[in-house]
Amino acid sequence: MIIAVDGPTASGKGTIAKHLAARFGLKRLDTGALYRAVGLAVLDAGGDPGDEAAAVAAAEALDLGAIDEDRIRSSQAGLAASKVAVIPAVRLVLRDAQRAFAADPAGAVLDGRDIGTVICPDADVKLYVTASLEARTARRLKELQARGETISFEALKAQIAERDERDTNRAESPLRQAADAHLLDTTEMDVAAAVEAAVGVVETVRG
Ligand code: DC
Repeated sequence: MIIAVDGPTASGKGTIAKHLAARFGLKRLDTGALYRAVGLAVLDAGGDPGDEAAAVAAAEALDLGAIDEDRIRSSQAGLAASKVAVIPAVRLVLRDAQRAFAADPAGAVLDGRDIGTVICPDADVKLYVTASLEARTARRLKELQARGETISFEALKAQIAERDERDTNRAESPLRQAADAHLLDTTEMDVAAAVEAAVGVVETVRG
């Protein structure tokens, strides 16, 4: 079984994907982590995430097993990720890595922006997870504060809106709900309620 979970940043898709993987005994790939790792690698090398040659080289050199799970969570890495993600040649390199992961006969859960539309268009279950900009900002603010980052609610909200804009309007594989995806709006839900709703969708689809 392949489960595709897409949605904007801080919508809760990562948490839902993690729980679905545990619940149904599947491995999980957080595809945003790949873009974050590429963006961070370019920054670490002193480059510009919008520079195609630098970003493609970083994508080609990416080692999925060596991603620094802590450093890629910074807001700086997130912004760099959304910049490398608009470059079609970067997406092509990462597409192959994602499809290879999904090809495992045991099945998988993948979460990102274009899993249901581009990476795994034949996924058995597709979820599109979203929440209001305010709710997503509040969640991300909590995460960043726990990491010791200081940023105001308004500044973070503007940053997330900027990323939404870039993710939704890019020419290559933009963020959008697949025609056959189930919409899950988590604005008014806590983690337990969102996970329960997602499990319900998977069980209904599986029959
Ligand atoms: O989900 P996230 O915040 O970790 O994603 C970081 C960035 O990576 C996001 O701004 C867009 C990009 N991304 C993408 O373009 N396609 C994906 N499948 C996953 C992430």
